[in-house]
Amino acid sequence: MSWIREGELTIIERFCANIIKAGPMPKHVAFIMDGNRRYAQKCHVERQQGHSQGFDKLAQTLRWCLNLGIREVTVYAFSIENFKRSKEEVDGLMDLARQKFSRLLEEQESLKKHGVCIRVLGDLPLLPLDIQELIAQAVLATRNYNNDVSESLLDKCLYTNNSPDPDLLIRTSGEVRLSDFLLWQTSHSCLVFQSVLWPEYSFWNLCEAILRFQMNYSALQKARDSYMEERRRQQMERDQAYVTKKLQQEGFASHGDSRRRRTLLQKCTAMREERIQGFLQALEHKRADFFERLCTVSA
Ligand code: IPE
Ligand code: IPE
Ligand code: MG
Repeated sequence: MSWIREGELTIIERFCANIIKAGPMPKHVAFIMDGNRRYAQKCHVERQQGHSQGFDKLAQTLRWCLNLGIREVTVYAFSIENFKRSKEEVDGLMDLARQKFSRLLEEQESLKKHGVCIRVLGDLPLLPLDIQELIAQAVLATRNYNNDVSESLLDKCLYTNNSPDPDLLIRTSGEVRLSDFLLWQTSHSCLVFQSVLWPEYSFWNLCEAILRFQMNYSALQKARDSYMEERRRQQMERDQAYVTKKLQQEGFASHGDSRRRRTLLQKCTAMREERIQGFLQALEHKRADFFERLCTVSA
């Protein structure tokens, strides 16, 4: 039996979904699924039961997202801080995660047919030492190439680099903090905090969050566009400054020969791209090595 694909929306839900879909829709939604233990306490059930219902709610929410045409969902299922909980609770959560996410991964292929991409992020307990070492090497290597170090390079170095930033981030249970989740990636996302406890999350809660995204859509879009424009402008300024310095070294006056300036500018951009690609490939290899070793150790 499929974990997320069963069940359609009711007629009234479908009707409302169609109305919402007439407006701008978030392409990528991130959830901080919070409030499982308070839910368990409220319903006088075991804590593990609250977590289990939380995972089932995720399955149901993914189905709603699928029906709403939201193709990418990122969920916060466990944080580093959560390791500080009792061993019994951590073990219980890990068992649930193993059980539920392996089912989800089994269904990944068929989900792809629906054009759906599901990303489940878990923080690594520690920044792997060899990644730290690689960053140190990169800092040394780029000491002479300050132009390479930019916000867009940082984007490309993150695990989330294959994915667009979330348009909408939802946290349940009334907590109004991000708890270290996607801090960099949500700087221009619509943040919606809802008081409902995660296991009680409903289709209507999701609609409400999307409506809030739609109400703020043009402001969000404007902020994102001007941020991207500013990034481009800053990069261009840095490149121009580099070229001016080069021209001066070649004995040209500060404006130099305009053809030479253009050529240098093109060369500077191409060489930077090449260095960045080399760095990213090395980073990718380091990560692949690290995960391979991790799998060997835990097998
Ligand atoms: C979120 O619910 C699930 C995880 C952190 C794994 P909590 O377990 O934080 O429940 P509350 O917030 O204490 O109610
Ligand atoms: C937040 O966990 C992360 C998840 C919901 C998975 P907590 O509920 O423990 O968050 P804080 O520590 O209270 O912010
Ligand atoms: Mg919590």
